[in-house]
Amino acid sequence: MARIAASILSADFSRLAEQIAASEAGGADWIHVDVMDGHFVPNITVGPLVVAAARRATKLPLDVHLMIEKPERYLSQFVTAGADWLTVHQEACPHLHRTVQQIRELGARPGVALNPATPVETLMDILPFVDLVLVMTVNPGFGGQSFIPDSLSKVNRLARRLAEGRLAGIEIEVDGGIDPDTAPAAVAAGATVLVAGSAVFSHGSIPDNVRALRRSLAVEV
Ligand code: DX5
Ligand code: ZN
Repeated sequence: MARIAASILSADFSRLAEQIAASEAGGADWIHVDVMDGHFVPNITVGPLVVAAARRATKLPLDVHLMIEKPERYLSQFVTAGADWLTVHQEACPHLHRTVQQIRELGARPGVALNPATPVETLMDILPFVDLVLVMTVNPGFGGQSFIPDSLSKVNRLARRLAEGRLAGIEIEVDGGIDPDTAPAAVAAGATVLVAGSAVFSHGSIPDNVRALRRSLAVEV
């Protein structure tokens, strides 16, 4: 069964601990934290202080998605703050192999993310060194955008490549526009972790929203 990572980008930060607990009560498996620098993406969000606050609020794995230029400058701060998974963008890392090794040496699980326009084939030589590939299913920068259906062909190509290359332990995460309508197709394409922000935090009951996502996965596509 695919895992659900609740993205706090759409949470109410004045009640962050409470909202993380509500997503956990609904069955969220991971907490996803979106770090944006206003350069790599046109938005600014949070840094290590908020990762540390999330760390105090839950024992769930913290999945930190760095949408920042030169992420290698901040890896140790994010790991010290409590990141379990640390994902950098392929497009932001000219020395991706070194960056991924640094994440592992710091004691976190390394991931690499791809923007919608970046082919999954660019990752072929780094796959043996990462534990997760994050396929963006919107252009990164904001919550609440529409899912890009064509991005699932990338998920599918990646899933097939992982199976062929005996790299089946690598997680395939999708991020952007995931809700009970889009989640089943993402899982059918090969996604093993679903990030959801607005579908979890933006309306109604947070635990019920997580449960609705989980229920949607039982539906045949
Ligand atoms: C977007 C972020 C996402 C964001 C997804 O750049 O990486 O994690 O929270 O938000 P939704 O689920 O609302 O599309
Ligand atoms: Zn994200």
